[in-house]
Amino acid sequence: MIHIEENKDIKELTTFGVPAYCRFFCEITSMQELEEALAFAQEKELPILMVGGGSNILFAKSWEGLAIHIALKGIREEKPDDNHQVLVTASAGENWHSFVQYCINKNYGGLENLSLIPGNAGTSPMQNIGAYGVEIKDHFYSLKALNIQTCAIETFSNKDCRFGYRDSYFKNEGKNRYVILEVTYRLTSENHHIVTDYGSIKEELLKQGISEPSIKEVSEAVIAIRNNKLPNPKVTGNAGSFFKNPLLPVQQFNSLKEIYPEMPHYEAPENQVKVPAGWLIEKAGWKGKRVGNAGVHDKQALVLVNYGNAGGMEIYNLSENIIRDVNKIFNIHLQREVNIII
Ligand code: EPU
Repeated sequence: MIHIEENKDIKELTTFGVPAYCRFFCEITSMQELEEALAFAQEKELPILMVGGGSNILFAKSWEGLAIHIALKGIREEKPDDNHQVLVTASAGENWHSFVQYCINKNYGGLENLSLIPGNAGTSPMQNIGAYGVEIKDHFYSLKALNIQTCAIETFSNKDCRFGYRDSYFKNEGKNRYVILEVTYRLTSENHHIVTDYGSIKEELLKQGISEPSIKEVSEAVIAIRNNKLPNPKVTGNAGSFFKNPLLPVQQFNSLKEIYPEMPHYEAPENQVKVPAGWLIEKAGWKGKRVGNAGVHDKQALVLVNYGNAGGMEIYNLSENIIRDVNKIFNIHLQREVNIII
């Protein structure tokens, strides 16, 4: 029997650590419990909120429906005919970093650049998590998800997920329609494709005198960079990048480049240029600033932080002020990457 809690304080279940309540809350560890939870919500006509690792959500207010914390566990492997590869499946409630470390310890390559990203395996496809030159879509094979309306389990291939930059089907048409149950990655068991083009990885490996790194060494370099640049959510509440890096039409980028020739940028598809939001926010004067209990991280302006007692609305208001200033200076409207409950 599923245990449904009322007026649950979920501060500790999100990496931002802001105070918030859920009208109803339950944790599910099996399909049967999930079905019971969905039936409860249907009977009471409650909106449903899926909570995974809580690493990409900000509660600016409390949740008046049912929050379901997915705690499905388990990892399994399968060797397809091509014996240089392996399919590794993680249940949605597995912690992402532990899953990545499991793969590295077994010498399965592909996910090492995505070490130390907070959150769970089940939410990795939602926003196509990415870091240091790799996105999950590069190694994603398939996922299984429960269709909330029909209660059928559906399989999604890489193509079905329609991955984009920090984007997928599950953030658009599929939003609130599915519960992701498990994800499968296709990884290499030998001849790994090591990606070290991203500037700071090269530098970090060079510093350690490593020229031909193993997947474990790449993972260790990523962990060192992240620990140095990004706040540890266990110490200072945050949700990683709060905003997406904006994509600008080439023309708009060229005009800005004349005024700011030093502006970092990356090529992007469809005649667009990607500009780091962290740089724009820093230029707008927000880096390291603190307003009450909320602030902008002093080593990476893309990250908003909770200094301990911030309310969700306080952080949200800070983000509004940043969006306003960046818009005023650069005529660029920043989009939030974090899901906001408001
Ligand atoms: N920059 C600044 N000031 C800042 C921050 C960055 O000038 O305060 C400049 C840097 O000097 C660099 C450029 O912006 O030239 C890019 O910075 P960085 O390499 O730190 O990456 P990012 O574009 O800011 C993205 C991801 C991160 C990911 C890193 C590394 C997004 C929204 N964020 O950040 O992902 O770790 O690249 O690959 O795409 C996350 O999504 O939560 C996340 C942390």
